[in-house]
Formats: sequence, C-alpha cells, structure tokens
Amino acid sequence: MLVYQKLNKSNYNEILKIKHQLFPESNSDDDYIKYFNNEVKSNYYLVLKDNKPCATIGWYDFDNKNTDAFVGWFGVKPEFQGQGIGKEILQYIIDEVKALNYDYLRVYTDKVVNPISILLYNKMFDVKEAYLNSDKIGWTKNFVVFTKYLNNKREKWHNRSLNEDDNYNF
Ligand SMILES: CC(C)(COP(=O)(O)OP(=O)(O)OC[C@H]1O[C@@H](n2cnc3c(N)ncnc32)[C@H](O)[C@@H]1OP(=O)(O)O)[C@@H](O)C(=O)NCCC(=O)NCCS
Repeated sequence: MLVYQKLNKSNYNEILKIKHQLFPESNSDDDYIKYFNNEVKSNYYLVLKDNKPCATIGWYDFDNKNTDAFVGWFGVKPEFQGQGIGKEILQYIIDEVKALNYDYLRVYTDKVVNPISILLYNKMFDVKEAYLNSDKIGWTKNFVVFTKYLNNKREKWHNRSLNEDDNYNF
C-alpha cells in the first residue's frame, strides 16, 4: 500500500533527493519555498511504499485561477519503476484536482529526456500537443503538453507560456 505524505519541512530534503536524481537538468528547487509560503496554489507529496520513500508527485496552479492544474515533480525512484506506482499516484492527483473543481489537469514533459513518461501520459490524458511557444523550452521543440479534461470544458493549451524558462539551463 502507498502512503501519501504532504510536503513539509521534515520530508522536504527527501523529496529534493528524488527530484535531483530524476531531474538533474532542472533548477527549480526554490519553487518549494513558494509552495511553503503559499505563493503558488499547489500540493505536493512524498510517496512511501513499505515505509520507504519511492516517489514524488504533486500539482501546482501557477496563475492561481483555479482552472488549470499542472502535474509537478512527478517521478518514481528507479528501483521502484515498472510496478504500477506511477500510474497509481498520477490517478490520485487526477482525483484530487477534479475534486477541487479544476477544469483541466495538464502536464508537460520533454519527450527526448523522459520518453517513458510519454507512454504513460498517452494512456492517462485526453489530448497531446507539441509545445512550440517562442520561449526557451518551446524552442527546443522537445516539449509536449498533455491535457486531461475534468468536466465538459474542452480547451487545449494552445502554446500559452508554461512559465518555466527560469527553471532550465540550456
Ligand atoms: C514516468 C514514470 C513516472 C513512470 O512510473 P512507473 O511507476 O515506472 O510507471 P508504471 O509502472 O505505473 O507504468 C505505467 C505505464 O508506463 C509505461 N511504462 C512504464 N515503464 C515502462 C518501460 N520501462 N517501458 C515501456 N513502457 C513503460 C507503460 O505504458 C505502463 O503502463 P502499463 O502498466 O499499462 O503497461 C517513471 O518512469 C519515472 O519516474 N521516470 C523518470 C522521470 C519522469 O519521466 N517523470 C515524468 C516526467 S514529467
């Protein structure tokens, strides 16, 4: 059984350890400070299996409009991958965000760096779009945005800025 521990000051380092292992190219550690200060609406978890940290996942609403929630720092430690944990904790976040009345759950990923995530998202989300914004990450043409519809609204992301350039050093 999986246990979901909300991000807090005592599990923060454990979450960062997983994040650094799975996303060495990202430098967004400071985002957690914003989450602690409630500057960005969000919710993050350290996930434990048999009392051992196995994964992290969460969501954030960067424009605080209660419309789009984005999956954030989603990763399963290598030794726990391929056991269904990724699918289960993503479903947990889908259910949570839907219960909070968001219209959309979205996620972006780098199809070159994280190809397995594409296979999972193809199954769990409704629509896939190439992210071709003229910002730094759009320029790479490697990023993809997936959307899950949570009610009867049907709006794609349409290359609006993901607001994430500061988090990458290309
Ligand atoms: C993407 C990731 C979270 C998947 O977690 P996981 O626990 O290994 O995934 P699951 O065991 O739940 O598998 C879910 C689906 O993903 C696909 N998948 C997972 N591992 C796979 C592999 N090695 N080869 C092919 N497909 C795979 C399958 O489609 C699987 O569905 P199925 O069980 O119906 O066949 C994990 O691989 C990971 O942390 N990768 C590095 C970080 C990352 O890419 N994060 C997401 C980017 S935003």
